[in-house]
Amino acid sequence: MKKNLINEALSLPHEKKPRHIGIIMDGNGRWAKKRGLPRLAGHKAGAENFKRIGEYLIDHNIEVSTFYAFSTENWKRPKDEVENIMSLLVDYLEEWMTMRKDKNMHFRFIGDRVAFSPRIRELMDKVEEASAHYPNVLNLALNYGSRDELCRAYELLMKEGKTSVSPEDIARHLYTADQPDVDLVIRTGGEMRLSNFLLYQSAYAEFYFTDKLWPDFSKEDIDDAILYFAHRERRFGGVIERNP
Ligand code: FPP
Repeated sequence: MKKNLINEALSLPHEKKPRHIGIIMDGNGRWAKKRGLPRLAGHKAGAENFKRIGEYLIDHNIEVSTFYAFSTENWKRPKDEVENIMSLLVDYLEEWMTMRKDKNMHFRFIGDRVAFSPRIRELMDKVEEASAHYPNVLNLALNYGSRDELCRAYELLMKEGKTSVSPEDIARHLYTADQPDVDLVIRTGGEMRLSNFLLYQSAYAEFYFTDKLWPDFSKEDIDDAILYFAHRERRFGGVIERNP
């Protein structure tokens, strides 16, 4: 049964699949707590799963995927937890620079980088540059918040001297400027909210919520989400004519 599901999702025609998937990776802390482990163990397992799922999205040939790793609000977490996530990030970026392989994606780091250490900013630049030739894009959202992103866009428009603004003007000043809108948002961990994630880009997105905690979210779950998307009827505000 599972195998059929995998085959069915992977073999869907490209136009039936989402071009851009956004993923809110929630539930690392609860995953660790259930096992009597510290929260850091949950984030570590979450980072491992991020690698697995990122690669699997290449098997699906998804054009763009965006993973929400650290929000503008996550700095409010206890200092040691923030430090732990930052050190996981450094490990990940350093590992990527030394172990990069054929199956990979073009990294883009979306969010305000000013808050990060010079070492992290340098690694972000290096990884973006070294991965620029891969066709599939992976946005890693770090110190990202949609409200911040929109304020930044308006400020840029004001600097351009704009006195009236179109939706396209705003879109071309977002971090995702050259990318398709989000078609599918997946959120793990049982909550049904967007948490300041890609608000503008998700205007017509479909939503897939699951109780699975992020470290447990598997390739089969991605298949399930993509199949769910493929069967949605998208109207973009219009109507679909039906036979009586
Ligand atoms: C949400 O789970 C998770 C985060 C805020 C951090 C996500 C970080 C990672 C997946 C690791 C990132 C590292 C790399 C290398 C990309 P939560 O802690 O809010 O879980 P809870 O709701 O169960 O407490």
